[in-house]
Amino acid sequence: MTRRVILTGIKPTGIPHIGNWLGAIRPGLELAQLPDTQAIYFIADYHALSSVHDAAELRQMTYDVAATWLALGLDPARTLLYRQSDVPEVFELCWILSCMTTKGWMNKAHAYKAAVDRNREAGEADDEGVNLGLYTYPILMAADIVLFDSDLVPVGKDQIQHLEIARDIAQRVNHVYGSVLKLPEPLVNELVSVVPGLDGRKMSKSYGNVVPLFLPPKQLKKTLNQIVTDSTPPEAPKDPQASHIFQMYRAVASPEQTLALEQRYRSGIGWGEAKAALFEVLDAALGPARERYNQLLADTAQLDAILADGAVRARQIAQQTLGRVRRAIGVGPR
Ligand code: ADP
Ligand code: TRP
Repeated sequence: MTRRVILTGIKPTGIPHIGNWLGAIRPGLELAQLPDTQAIYFIADYHALSSVHDAAELRQMTYDVAATWLALGLDPARTLLYRQSDVPEVFELCWILSCMTTKGWMNKAHAYKAAVDRNREAGEADDEGVNLGLYTYPILMAADIVLFDSDLVPVGKDQIQHLEIARDIAQRVNHVYGSVLKLPEPLVNELVSVVPGLDGRKMSKSYGNVVPLFLPPKQLKKTLNQIVTDSTPPEAPKDPQASHIFQMYRAVASPEQTLALEQRYRSGIGWGEAKAALFEVLDAALGPARERYNQLLADTAQLDAILADGAVRARQIAQQTLGRVRRAIGVGPR
């Protein structure tokens, strides 16, 4: 029996935060444990290149993302973990797929359309500052996915359109050349609610409201103290559902701890006290991982070795798929 392939890419464009952990990494680690499953989690550094043009920053963030997954429990013997840029087959397939992709599909892709909207608002030409990497981003993503005959692709809601494009491209290839590529399905975890940031909006690096995952305890405490609260007096009863401190707490604490904090909210809890409770559960949940994270980043040679090993194993799969595609499209010797 062939194993079900679950694949996802993580773009190294910012320091990993609690929203990434609860919304993507923790569910990803759970999926990787399922029986008859091959999980493939890669660091999409060439996707990041469409926006990150600082070499040192790109390299560092790539290490940060790799170390984050490993520190939180990814087992590289079981789950493939590699840098996208270490698997050149992706880029050959990307070209092949580009030749099968209608330009109109790219005009409709969200990231490109958002850039055009921003330009129009600023009174600039539509394509001002838009590089072709951003424009054709969905094709590279389709290549990442179909190269591994992926069955399921866990993504946030914002990536569903990219999955539709990947399916459209794969269908186009299959229509022209017969059944060559597997069609992937998106896996959107509706149960994971949006983790709020310091200001109560969705925690996101674009809003600058994030709680980074592996801050030293003192700084973590300081950051949590910046969570915006209202001026209700400490002794006033509070609605836990309306509090983003509580939302974060609940995502990390045990059901018993959650129930206990809920009761404290209802009988009146000061915001400082609620923040301290949140610090305690976060620090307990992340403390050991923080230590592993720091160790991994202190020895990037070890990280490089893990990623290189992942790339070797990924390329074995990739070369088979690419060989199949090359034969189908009439490239190379008979
Ligand atoms: P950001 O919004 O900080 O730019 P990304 O878009 O890079 O984060 O998200 C990477 C992954 O983390 C995605 O799968 C996304 O769904 C998840 N994620 C990001 N922020 C949150 C959040 N606040 N709550 C839940 N999941 C999140
Ligand atoms: N586009 C995704 C993002 O911005 C990252 C990504 C790149 C990806 N290639 C992928 C996700 C393949 C899933 C599958 O978050």
